Amino acid sequence: MTAAKQIDGKTRAADLTANITRETAALLKSHSIKPGLAVVIVGDDPASQVYVRNKKRAAESCGFYSAQHVLAESVSQPDVLKLIERLNADTAVHGILVQLPLPDHLDEQTITQAIIPTKDVDGFHFINIGKLMAGRISDAFVPCTPAGCMLLIEDELGTDLSGKTAVVIGRSNIVGKPIAALLLQANATVTITHSRTQDLAKVVSDADIVVAAVGRPGMVRADWIKRGAVVIDVGINRVEKIVDGKATTQLTGDVDYDEVCVVAGAITPVPGGVGPMTIAMLMANTLRSARMSAGLEG
Ligand code: GUN
Repeated sequence: MTAAKQIDGKTRAADLTANITRETAALLKSHSIKPGLAVVIVGDDPASQVYVRNKKRAAESCGFYSAQHVLAESVSQPDVLKLIERLNADTAVHGILVQLPLPDHLDEQTITQAIIPTKDVDGFHFINIGKLMAGRISDAFVPCTPAGCMLLIEDELGTDLSGKTAVVIGRSNIVGKPIAALLLQANATVTITHSRTQDLAKVVSDADIVVAAVGRPGMVRADWIKRGAVVIDVGINRVEKIVDGKATTQLTGDVDYDEVCVVAGAITPVPGGVGPMTIAMLMANTLRSARMSAGLEG
């Protein structure tokens, strides 16, 4: 028995992408500017390769200039920084993204902070993080996954979350901390939980909005969830399953979907929930950067 509405991130992302494609054509016509996205990938991690391929495909379908820089696993830090310097100066590139994680010999922080803030479409630069924390969202690049989650939450509950309680599970820089800042900016009362939180189930059971971003398959159970809550599952876990006697890998979220959908008011599936929204928001940030380069946006 399913009580919850299944939030269709795939259709929502497709609608956003269609708008971005239209606006991209208009920008090209009015200002002869084609948004450009450069994606840097180091090594041959299969999951990262899939993400990067999807980003390239989306950029091309929006009508962007799309460049992919594939660097060997053994690339040196100075060589990565040289490439970023070149992309920072390239006027055809409005967005730069270095796919994470990076191999251990590369310093993630030095590399992400080398991207010029005005092309930081991932929203990882301290300038953009600072603007987000200060509530200056209008001229910050907000990280794509949290930005996509917020759109899905706003679709369900509106843009003003006054009086709502939100619990974020996970305190990562990519998802947990920025989504908490966005929820707070929308007037929700926000709690960030993590591996040291005591009685997580009890904390979560108070929430009108639950965002799960921990990377532990099926961790969030039905008896943690308040009836009618909006549940956003950011987890993308690859789990081995035996189907018809054959071992296959399946994508599973951090929420036990089958259980929780009986209690929740609305819930994102995995796949088809937050994942497509992340890519759509990357396209939105890149278009915005291109429009900013023409002085069309703040
Ligand atoms: N790896 C996993 N998620 C992300 C993301 O949002 N941006 C980048 N650059 N790498 C990632």
